[in-house]
Amino acid sequence: MTIDNSMQISFELNGSMRRARVEPHERLIDLLRDVLGETGTKEGCGEGECGACTVLVEGRAVNSCLFPAPEVEGLRVVTIEGLCGEGLQLSPVQAAFLEGGATQCGFCTPGMVVSTVALLGENPAPSASDIRNALTGNLCRCTGYVQIVEAIQSAAAKLSAGGEA
Ligand code: FES
Ligand code: FES
Repeated sequence: MTIDNSMQISFELNGSMRRARVEPHERLIDLLRDVLGETGTKEGCGEGECGACTVLVEGRAVNSCLFPAPEVEGLRVVTIEGLCGEGLQLSPVQAAFLEGGATQCGFCTPGMVVSTVALLGENPAPSASDIRNALTGNLCRCTGYVQIVEAIQSAAAKLSAGGEA
């Protein structure tokens, strides 16, 4: 006899209510990518070390490779897809990464951008050292981080003139 421990959950994903049946130990990244088709979130290490899988849960940056899917019941989740505006218009942070050469292979970029949105929500005018501290959990093998820090400062300056991250 097999016992079905799965459960039905509903939560807000990028502004829309979604329902899904999940297993008790299912990871949020698998729910997002494999079940709900939101493949912008990337899996690098799968162990909470690289930050490629970062998403926002109730505005807080979390590693979706470690976050249990059942725990998003009733909560608000935002992925890289949810940051775009009407007609897939890039958000100020996304645009700053693109314009500032802060993305090369792009694998780390969704997690970097999502962590940046969380940072700017708490600290709208971060120093370079604030940014480096906030992104210690996000690894990039390509850029050397200089362009990333500059892009975030550029986005922060634009946002201070009005707008949402
Ligand atoms: S894939 Fe989640 S932290 Fe690396
Ligand atoms: S742009 Fe390639 S890992 Fe960051």
